Amino acid sequence: MKVTVFGTHDYDRASLEEANAGGMHVLDFVTKGLNARTAARARGAGAVCTFVNDRLDACVLEAVYASGARLVALRSTGYDNVDLVAAKKLGLTVLRVPAYSPHAVAEHAIALIMALNRKTHLANARVHRQDFTLDGLVGFDLFGKTVGVVGTGRIGVVAARILGQGFGCKVLATDPVPCSACMEMGVRYVELAELLAAADIVTLHCPLDSGTRHLVDSAALQRMKPGAMLVNTSRGAVLDTQAAIAALDSGKLGALGLDVYEGEAALFFRDLSDQALTDETFKKLLAFPNVIVTGHQAFLTREALRGIAETTIRNLTDFERGDPCTDNLVPHR
Ligand code: NAI
Repeated sequence: MKVTVFGTHDYDRASLEEANAGGMHVLDFVTKGLNARTAARARGAGAVCTFVNDRLDACVLEAVYASGARLVALRSTGYDNVDLVAAKKLGLTVLRVPAYSPHAVAEHAIALIMALNRKTHLANARVHRQDFTLDGLVGFDLFGKTVGVVGTGRIGVVAARILGQGFGCKVLATDPVPCSACMEMGVRYVELAELLAAADIVTLHCPLDSGTRHLVDSAALQRMKPGAMLVNTSRGAVLDTQAAIAALDSGKLGALGLDVYEGEAALFFRDLSDQALTDETFKKLLAFPNVIVTGHQAFLTREALRGIAETTIRNLTDFERGDPCTDNLVPHR
């Protein structure tokens, strides 16, 4: 099947080509993301393959349908960027990669926690200026601290294990569907309000949907321990960014680590280094020394890229055979 693969970079192109080594599919790589203007590139293709910041609203999906493609193959776990009602109306199948390496994302969340705590971003910059002083770089032992894990699915359970069994943290969690593996390792499930009030560090691992949009808003931030750390590697809009900035300004929030950002669709995955930054909210975030932002790279390990590519190619093959894997089908609303 011919597949138009939108928003590709060298790293995902290489892993997709490797997974498609048998030549099952004809992959047409496009660096631009999928939108109403670029959708025409899919003419003659049976499927479009997209990533997290392609906004698949009704208008874009209609353009995909008009191109002749009948499958949207997401190279992601999250599908909050897809209008599922419109997809259903058009009869487009939407497949995703429900699991690749949960370790990649969980370990990146830990990297953000450790960098913020031990201020490695500031320390490295100082050493490069030949400033070898240590004032202002005091961190804390993770051992014995209370960490709150919001969402204990595939990624959250790995984060809970690293924090609880690796660092010796006390782990609290909140999830409408508690996980037995977490309970077996001593994680205590509590309501979100209790978790926020007790945790020294909160790490977000829930999906973005109507129930979790701005789950961490100004009221939630006010419930947090003064000076606590918040890390978000889930989806930008789970956190109300303006509220987080206000909490950083007041000192209520002690540190913020973000791999995802509400306005990331206009920024991430592109080299904009020759342009002035116009996103005022993002500018404010970057001005805080106790904020670290990475550009949606938590998934970016060799193992995860291989996993994404292999499942994506399998999704294309299964769809072509008329037998899409039900676990990978995005539920139509
Ligand atoms: P998953 O579906 O295995 O787990 C999500 C968990 O969140 C489930 O246990 C669910 O019950 C829980 N949940 C739902 N609503 C909740 C709420 N209101 N409060 C607390 N928990 C809630 O998903 P997985 O694989 O663990 O991924 C989680 C999210 O991480 C994805 O939806 C995606 O948005 C994000 N992600 C980010 C990546 C990155 O590169 N930054 C890469 C992959 C995923």
